[in-house]
Amino acid sequence: MMKKDRANFGSKMGVILASAGSAVGLGNIWRFPYETGNHGGAAFILIYLGCIILLGLPIMIAEFLIGRHSRANTAGAFQILAPGTHWRWIGRMGVLAGLLILSYYSVVAGWTLEYITEAVSNSFAGKSPNDFVVSFQSFSTNPWRPILWLTVFLLATHFIIVKGVEKGIEKSSKIMMPMLFILLLILVACSVTLPGAKRGIEFLLKPDFNKVDSSVFLGAMGQAFFSLSLGMGCLCTYASYFSKDTNLTKTAFSVGIIDTIIAILAGFIIFPAAFSVGIQPDAGPSLIFITLPNVFQQAFSGIPALAYLFSVLFYVLLAVAALTSTISLHEVVTAYLHEEFHFTRGKAARIVTGSCIFFGIFCSLSLGVAKGYTLFGLGLFDLFDFVTAKIMLPIGGLFISVFTGWYLDKKIVWEEVSNSGSLRMPAYKLFIFILKFIAPIAISFIFINELGLLR
Ligand code: TRP
Repeated sequence: MMKKDRANFGSKMGVILASAGSAVGLGNIWRFPYETGNHGGAAFILIYLGCIILLGLPIMIAEFLIGRHSRANTAGAFQILAPGTHWRWIGRMGVLAGLLILSYYSVVAGWTLEYITEAVSNSFAGKSPNDFVVSFQSFSTNPWRPILWLTVFLLATHFIIVKGVEKGIEKSSKIMMPMLFILLLILVACSVTLPGAKRGIEFLLKPDFNKVDSSVFLGAMGQAFFSLSLGMGCLCTYASYFSKDTNLTKTAFSVGIIDTIIAILAGFIIFPAAFSVGIQPDAGPSLIFITLPNVFQQAFSGIPALAYLFSVLFYVLLAVAALTSTISLHEVVTAYLHEEFHFTRGKAARIVTGSCIFFGIFCSLSLGVAKGYTLFGLGLFDLFDFVTAKIMLPIGGLFISVFTGWYLDKKIVWEEVSNSGSLRMPAYKLFIFILKFIAPIAISFIFINELGLLR
């Protein structure tokens, strides 16, 4: 039975857009390029694509079927499908991961708002590549401004969560997602024609397998989970709002393809531009914020009006892409508190927003005034990122595949993926085989490899 206050996606298109809206975000345009840069380029991308196909898609279908069958929040879903067992801890760990990700993700989402205001006030005009580095540094280490923006961003997320998911999001992503896509294509064209861009293209296309070490595998796997919103029950929560005739396999493929294309496009914007202006590809989280403004300045140097228009448009679309992702993260935690602890949705949402502002402030400060305070050698921002993307999400994914492959009644699995027998599923056996063996072994292997136990 559907509870009244559970939202429901209006159409087939809505289902894909909402899930793709969750998947496409800063993970594609901000995190993918900087992880690719940190891990040496093309070889990382190949391993990343392998992780998407082998782990990402099957686990996404598994999350979908768990969510749609149970029609509950993540923790509740495991409670319903495996009552009285410890499986519900997967859901709980997912909720915690969601809270941590939302806290540091909002910091970067806040940066996009600062860049909107800079673009609107035309303050990119006439700056040199080095000026962009300096101004990013002075902004991100300022104790107040990033905190102001992260609070604004979380309040915007809060507002939409409380108002209801369907209408606004579905409508706006129908327009915004195609716009973002077209703008990215234009920017790729601009970036690859910059002087000296060729080395950036080589960096993306010529794999250098000498650079591949265990951390490349862990990084690629983490990025695949992060970018597809997998491993913490986010898409599971969304699938609980799907209708009975949503084709889960098709939806997973659509989301996976859209998400991957957008990440690759982002790579083809950032690296040609970075090499062109002499910024190191491993500049870290600041990468897109110091390279992109150059693309607008240099590619449209003859036509300042276009430089202005595209930079405003880009940061607005990036902020919206981030917003559809923060909404999905927020919804996981809010639905959990609302359904498991019987808080009103409003109260649940206030707890989530408040906690994320609190943690977000410390994440933001850890990049500036509190840089010296580290745990395991990482500041809080980097620690939250590492612990969630590289540990909690893959572990979540591991357990989700074991749960679906081994524990869950195969009648339920078949019923969900085939919509009670009405869809053909030629690769069903392969799907189960991956969930049972390949995914758990591959994920464990990457962890063991990272711990250095194989050397
Ligand atoms: N996938 C989103 C991005 O690429 C971020 C995100 C939303 C996410 N929900 C998630 C990451 C759940 C991990 C888990 O920006």
